[in-house]
Amino acid sequence: MERFEGRRVLITGAGSGIGQATVHRILAEGGRVVGLDRDEQGLAATAATAAENGTADRLTTAVVDIADEGSVRAGVADAVATLGGLDVLVNAAGILRSAHTHETTLEFWNTILAVNLTGTFLMTREALPALLESGRGVVVNFSSTSASFTHPYMAAYAASKGGIQSFTHALAGEYAKQGLRAVAVAPGSISSGMTTGRGPGLPEDADMSLFAKLIPAIGQGMAGPETVAGVVAMLASDDGAFVTGTELRIDGGTHM
Ligand SMILES: NC(=O)c1ccc[n+]([C@@H]2O[C@H](COP(=O)([O-])OP(=O)(O)OC[C@H]3O[C@@H](n4cnc5c(N)ncnc54)[C@H](O)[C@@H]3O)[C@@H](O)[C@H]2O)c1
Repeated sequence: MERFEGRRVLITGAGSGIGQATVHRILAEGGRVVGLDRDEQGLAATAATAAENGTADRLTTAVVDIADEGSVRAGVADAVATLGGLDVLVNAAGILRSAHTHETTLEFWNTILAVNLTGTFLMTREALPALLESGRGVVVNFSSTSASFTHPYMAAYAASKGGIQSFTHALAGEYAKQGLRAVAVAPGSISSGMTTGRGPGLPEDADMSLFAKLIPAIGQGMAGPETVAGVVAMLASDDGAFVTGTELRIDGGTHM
């Protein structure tokens, strides 16, 4: 399938997990991709896999910190110049940290909000002129099941993801008449650096009985990042042409 032939795609979080899987999915479907991450080694791994897949000629990677306004400004400008415009922005970069809320420091709170919510805003703001110029621009943002279902010890993370959902709705309405679509995905139970590598870092005394339900109803536990990448590709392609201003939960029925 070549749904992304001629499409210019910018993806954050391209050095690991779902963002990385999305890079490879869109390259496989013919797109040209700029992948951003703050992790240079992760980006090198993404580029190495693209070389193995024979898609490296359509991939450019760059180190960008999405929480840093100057870094985002320069990174998006370079990406738009490299691609000669922009049709799709996938805001997959994010961080997960856990703590008891009564022990959460302001620094901890601000760090999570700065990356997840403010980073999504900064990337989107900088990319909007090029996406609007495209006339068929799409923004896919990353919410989480934590935005709508209780995730104890993850109040800052959940609030950042709820904010991303609200931000996506506002964006969709504001620019719909200019041909822009904005959609959020809400994954849960996906194996990635966040869940199986570095992990959420739950407090040592976490009461697991507070988690109403963690097990997907289908499959054999966590799904791989490629399961989300396929949905992102659908939403960002013309197959998602009538989808905007909403969120799509991808959690194997964990929260039905
Ligand atoms: N894995 C899950 O079950 C799950 C569930 C819900 C939502 N999500 C969301 O999916 C998205 C992708 O996460 P993942 O699961 O693939 O995790 P991951 O840790 O494997 O990937 C996240 C990537 O974001 C990058 N990143 C973090 N901070 C950054 C910054 N300031 N600037 C640039 N890059 C930065 C990291 O270096 C990493 O490569 C995230 O937004 C996450 O919140 C994941």
